[in-house]
Formats: sequence, structure tokens, C-alpha cells
Amino acid sequence: MSVNIAIDGPAGAGKSTIAKMVAGKLNFIYVDTGAMYRAMGLYFHNLGISPEDGDSICNACKGADISIVYEAGVQQVFLNGENVTGLLRTEEAGKMASAISGYAKVREKLVELQQKMAALENVVMDGRDIGTVVLPGADLKIYLTASVETRAKRRFLELTEKGIPCNIKEIEKDIEERDYHDMHRENSPLRRAEDAIYLDSSDMTIDEVADAILDALSQKEGKSGQE
Ligand code: DC
Repeated sequence: MSVNIAIDGPAGAGKSTIAKMVAGKLNFIYVDTGAMYRAMGLYFHNLGISPEDGDSICNACKGADISIVYEAGVQQVFLNGENVTGLLRTEEAGKMASAISGYAKVREKLVELQQKMAALENVVMDGRDIGTVVLPGADLKIYLTASVETRAKRRFLELTEKGIPCNIKEIEKDIEERDYHDMHRENSPLRRAEDAIYLDSSDMTIDEVADAILDALSQKEGKSGQE
């Protein structure tokens, strides 16, 4: 049986950095489910379908073939045969992903792919509904968050380092809007699973968060070994 670690939390909480680090230390595969929603968003965008047009989104869904391949341990997302990984990390792609992720048809398709991957491999999977919907039986569930100010500051530094002009107040507003949308949609809203460990990374380093997750896993494994 594969071992599955689920990490959920709002945008900018550091999930992908942490999940990648934990996966690397455990020699597990890191599955970035946000990238799958971003690829679906790109697909609808390329077809000229607006995120508000639910009927067209549901009809077009079956034409999107998303597949995941690992190259040197790094997740590559293919959309209808094309590697679109490099196109997914923009603010625009994030907003589009958030907007289309509320549709049940979109979620069904991606959840199935995610569950298949987790059944085959040891994974650290991050997203919004991993502990609640995708892998309710995960061996370890983490809800990783940080204050809006901390998340906006991290994003600001990341963009500034890349030379991308940005405004911290606008980033804060975008984060708040995305949180609201992700937490209040009808289908699989972001929420903490009852059995998820709550970690607020606002005043923690990346290493401290990763160590907390690895310790929690060891404790769980120790307990299940005693049973
Ligand atoms: O983690 P991210 O920023 O790459 O995710 C982009 C959007 O995709 C996010 O705002 C909501 C959606 N998403 C989702 O609904 N469920 C997931 N498991 C992962 C992402």
C-alpha cells in the first residue's frame, strides 16, 4: 500500500515549497494539484471560454486531456499532449484556476487523476481538498496556513526577486479574494479536515515546518506500528 501525505491550505501559505521538501526527504513523489487546475484554466482560456460560462465549461471538459509526467523528479503537466508547465505559475493562471475550480465536472476529472496517482505511488499531495475529498484516508493530513500579511509579503518578495513589478496592497487584496472564493464555493471548498494537523507558518522557517511534518509522520507511523 502506498503512503499518502495530504497538505491543504490557502494560496501562498508555502504548501508547494514545503511539500516538495518533505517529498524530497522521504523520496516520495510531489503532486501539485493546483497545477492541474491551472492547466484546465489555460485550456478554457485558449478556447475563449469565460469562467462564468458554466455550460460551455462543462461541455468542453471532456476535450481536455491532462496528464502528469515526472522528469528528473519534477512534475510536468501535459495538456492535450503539450507540456504547459512553464505557462502555469502566473497570477492570471492562478485566478483563472480558482474561477474554474468551482465546477463539479472540472473537479471530478482531476480528482480521479489525483486518486489514481496516490494509489500507485507514495505521494505528498498539496491542494485545497486533498484531506477532505481526494484522499480522506491519507496517512497524514496537514492544514498549512499563514496570515494574509505574511503570505502577501512572501509573494511580493518572490515577484520582486524575479524583477516583476508589483504592489503589496494589490497582492493582499488578490489573496483575500482568492481565499474567499476557494473557501466559499459550493463544491469541495477549502476547509481543514477534522483530523488534519493545523500549522501556522507565519513565524516558522521552511525547515521548521518541514520538520514538524516529518515528526508528525514518524509519530503516526510509531503509533500504527504499536497497534
Ligand atoms: O495551489 P494553486 O495556487 O496553484 O491553486 C490554484 C487554484 O486552483 C486555487 O486557487 C484553487 C484551485 N485548486 C483547487 O480548487 N483544488 C485543489 N486541490 C488545488 C487547487
